[in-house]
Amino acid sequence: MMNSLKQFPLFGLGTYKLLGDECTKAVEFALENEITLIDTASFYGNEEEIGNALKNSTVDRDNYNVVTKIWTDEMREGNVEKALMRSLKKLQTEFLDAYLIHWPVVNKWEKSFEQMLRFQEEGVIRKVGVCNFNIEHLEKVKQEFDVYPFLNQVEMHMQFQQDEMQVYCKEHGILAQAWRPLMNGTIGEVEVLKEIGRKYEKSPYQVILRFFTQKGVGVIPKSSKQERILENSSIFDFNLTDDEVIAVSALNKDLRTGPDPLTFDF
Ligand SMILES: NC(=O)c1ccc[n+]([C@@H]2O[C@H](COP(=O)([O-])OP(=O)(O)OC[C@H]3O[C@@H](n4cnc5c(N)ncnc54)[C@H](OP(=O)(O)O)[C@@H]3O)[C@@H](O)[C@H]2O)c1
Repeated sequence: MMNSLKQFPLFGLGTYKLLGDECTKAVEFALENEITLIDTASFYGNEEEIGNALKNSTVDRDNYNVVTKIWTDEMREGNVEKALMRSLKKLQTEFLDAYLIHWPVVNKWEKSFEQMLRFQEEGVIRKVGVCNFNIEHLEKVKQEFDVYPFLNQVEMHMQFQQDEMQVYCKEHGILAQAWRPLMNGTIGEVEVLKEIGRKYEKSPYQVILRFFTQKGVGVIPKSSKQERILENSSIFDFNLTDDEVIAVSALNKDLRTGPDPLTFDF
């Protein structure tokens, strides 16, 4: 697991709310421009559009990663095989680089995780991961299955930096991956990010994405626009200084904007 973690990209294209032709075009564009991770979910309703992009692409399938997620209802149904086969068919791929539990549905996620491990053994899933797991959930995975999930995709951005989760994941060889890293495109006027960006000729969006990736945290910003997909992915040619890291860290407010993994009701 540690070895695969090293090869897995820290940057990928998020696709929540990307639909139809716009979605297919964005994914094709990302693959053509050496973006090697596409993040989707059965819940997003765009696996078919992404499948079309993968089919149209001239990039070899071994050169990029496709990640999708099992939704809460699919977990309640208790048949991982059915959900997995449906996603694979829509995505027009024979395997997933990672299959993730989307939310920790109480008393359901354990059985799904167990079934996912079996598909990993068969090679249909390269890695089994989770989303929205707290440290307690991650500890339970270890207790029950004697492994840690490959990655944990959680809400993480300027105002909700989740340092404790970052440290825990690093200690246990889990890739922490940030969803909504751009706070839905609302951080363009944050002065601290603008000022750092001016020094490196980067946008506030690039600064926050570099801040996380520099700490070993994965990011999967979504954009439908080609110039923004390129902008967001052009973050590996500069490094923030220690003082700049401290300044960005100070923007944290422990402020969750999405559902809480312990109280969500869907
Ligand atoms: N596991 C989970 O429970 C979970 C939950 C939420 C999200 N996710 C994943 O995480 C991904 C990212 O999160 P997100 O889509 O919610 O939010 P996000 O990536 O923080 O923000 C996306 C928004 O920012 C805009 N944007 C992108 N790049 C920009 C730039 N350089 N400058 C200005 N605006 C920019 C986009 O608009 P345009 O499209 O118009 O460029 C879009 O409206 C999702 O797409 C999904 O794959 C996972």
